[in-house]
Amino acid sequence: MAITSQARSFDTAAASYAANRPSYPSELLDAVEELIGFPLEGACVADVGAGTGLATSLLHDRGAIVVAVDPGPGMASQFRLSLPDVPLVIGDGNNLPLASASIDVVTYAQAWHWTDQRTSVPEALRVLRTGGALALWWNDSDSTVPWIADQDARLRRLFGADDSPHNPTARFRGLPLELGFVHRHVPWTRTVPLDMHLANLASYSDFLVLGKEATNTFIASERDLLAEAFPNQMVEEHYVVSLAVATR
Ligand SMILES: C[S@@+](CC[C@H](N)C(=O)[O-])C[C@H]1O[C@@H](n2cnc3c(N)ncnc32)[C@H](O)[C@@H]1O
Repeated sequence: MAITSQARSFDTAAASYAANRPSYPSELLDAVEELIGFPLEGACVADVGAGTGLATSLLHDRGAIVVAVDPGPGMASQFRLSLPDVPLVIGDGNNLPLASASIDVVTYAQAWHWTDQRTSVPEALRVLRTGGALALWWNDSDSTVPWIADQDARLRRLFGADDSPHNPTARFRGLPLELGFVHRHVPWTRTVPLDMHLANLASYSDFLVLGKEATNTFIASERDLLAEAFPNQMVEEHYVVSLAVATR
């Protein structure tokens, strides 16, 4: 399956992605260990769609032996700057460049939706050893927080999406039931300068394919609105990580 231009759009913004995207809370890694049923320390982990290495770095810090996989050369260059000691292979989840039954945990942090499940599921099952686990997660803004709900509504209008607020359980819809996924939601917050909040927003793939002019117009208007809501220019972002784990 060909990788779409939206899936490849991150490559144009890898440095900004690395600088501004939120990482993940340590509670998420605790939940991963609980649901996979064994510690990450010493486990062989393939972090697929590793991007600039935000999740890889946390897995590495937990003592996992990580191999990263990503199709994007721009993301890969940024990854190698951040994590020069962690191996990264150019490849994708639909055709993993990994030996069969060689991996304890396959992780996808914000990347599973870019794959074609008809091929990425059998590929994940092929590389996992028996008893190994597939762990998928997504970090979404918490739209139960009023200012985030308002911003989400403006984003949905801009991108012509349907007008229902994001529901965290939506991430689990469409996952193959036969794998018996177990689920967990992990809420967390970070407080960042307004500029960083806006740069993070502009690194989302919808903006990367929208083009500079329309992106700059939207971001300028967000700056004005948020400067009123956060007069000290520090924005408290609220997130919910949706985690799904299946054991082979
Ligand atoms: C939103 S980024 C997530 C990066 C990183 N995992 C993180 O948590 O920040 C999505 C990544 O998926 C990668 N990607 C796109 N298509 C893919 C595919 N078919 N298989 C694996 N990764 C893919 C992109 O190159 C990009 O690095």
